Amino acid sequence: MDSNSITITDHRTGKQYDIPVEDDNIRAKALKQIKVHPEDFGMMTYDPAFLNTASCRSAITFIDGDKGILRYRGYPIEELAEKCTFLEVAHLLLNGELPPQEDLSAWVTRVKRHTMLHETTKKFLEGFRYNAHPMGMLISTVAALSTVYPDAKHVHDPVIRSRHIVRLIAKMPTICAYCYRHQFGLPYVYPDNDLSYTANFMNMMWKMVEPKYVADPTLARVLDILFILHADHEQNCSTNTMRCIGSALADPYVSVAGAAAALSGPLHGGANEEVLKMLDEIGEKTAIPAYIERVKKGEVKLMGFGHRVYKNYDPRARIIKWAADRVFEVTGHNNRIEMALELERIALSDDYFIERKLYPNVDFYSGIIYQAMGFRPDIFTVLFAIPRVVGWLAQWQEMLLDPEQKIARPRQVYTGEGERHFVPIEERSPAQTVKA
Ligand code: ACO
Repeated sequence: MDSNSITITDHRTGKQYDIPVEDDNIRAKALKQIKVHPEDFGMMTYDPAFLNTASCRSAITFIDGDKGILRYRGYPIEELAEKCTFLEVAHLLLNGELPPQEDLSAWVTRVKRHTMLHETTKKFLEGFRYNAHPMGMLISTVAALSTVYPDAKHVHDPVIRSRHIVRLIAKMPTICAYCYRHQFGLPYVYPDNDLSYTANFMNMMWKMVEPKYVADPTLARVLDILFILHADHEQNCSTNTMRCIGSALADPYVSVAGAAAALSGPLHGGANEEVLKMLDEIGEKTAIPAYIERVKKGEVKLMGFGHRVYKNYDPRARIIKWAADRVFEVTGHNNRIEMALELERIALSDDYFIERKLYPNVDFYSGIIYQAMGFRPDIFTVLFAIPRVVGWLAQWQEMLLDPEQKIARPRQVYTGEGERHFVPIEERSPAQTVKA
């Protein structure tokens, strides 16, 4: 018997099966040989919401949720946030290594060359109502780029793939800024490629009539750090969506649109906007204990708290708290941060949160910083999507190059009716009416 295996005894049949262990895991497919009758489908694992299922092998991001560790390509997130620029980290995530200066300069120049949008895309944006949510606009506009770049469907061509990866990273800030300006009827500001990635984004968001927009360097750097923190997070809901859509060989624009749709949900990237709404609803510090009671009764969730993977603390939240102090030195005091700190203090000393290992996640403080910087709450999730595009694309590319990957297609445990036969409409009883 192989010592690197486990033995399963099926007490229904008395048979034993040796299942090889690879990387401390077993392959779900190895269970398929476990059958009662030869014609059975074979044993599956049932894992709603993928609580304990690895869907891929990945060399991009490492998380140890119990220890609060996050690393991109082996580098601790704290070191990358302190020492790198966002585009440097993007290069790392996509290519596996931090680039030497010459490669970094070439990479940054390449990204900057693609920041403009095709003019027809502006007309597409014009069609949205003035009060359209920016995430809806972003999702649709990114999907629409698929029609502008039809060659993107050649996903197995490395040159074409690389070109569209660069295009997406370069155009995301432009699309996002245009979505924002559309809401206010402001003229679109073309990219200024003299500026850094984040300073240019701020320029496209907020430039008015001044000849040259000058972003506050502290705020531009904090935004860069926030982008680094959000760039990837292994197999989260939106990344899983990206891999799933991409596994059907859909082009990267529609795949990113699908991933962004997943991100927009309030349990995922939409949480940062919800945190701000929650703080507004609570209103003042004295109302926090009553709100915590509502959370404990299950009436509401404490938005920005809890994480599927981190059960100790979210290392990104710690860096964000540090970044918040830098922002408030520039923008002045903000009473929302006081409320958030008090909420965190009370929650972390309460048994309900301690027992369930609920800690602030990346979204708890990010919205507060973004608002202090001048971003409106409905753009927060868009600010998440800009950097996360890098992670989605790195994971998508890894999936395409992985010879073990195929079109994603989970199984189900069928719980519906057995075979039955058609009943003419006049003979159906109300009980047979389908409940949608
Ligand atoms: N407030 C109150 N209770 C919570 C919270 C919360 N934010 N999160 C989890 N719980 C409770 C659950 O009700 C459950 O309690 P129970 O055991 O009494 O039923 C227990 O903690 C375990 O929670 P699950 O829902 O099983 O945890 P899961 O891993 O499925 O969910 C999630 C993780 C979705 C992040 C959840 O914690 C949540 O909804 N948080 C608020 C939304 C949020 O901040 N999302 C952003 C996540 S970070 C990101 O996506 C970028």
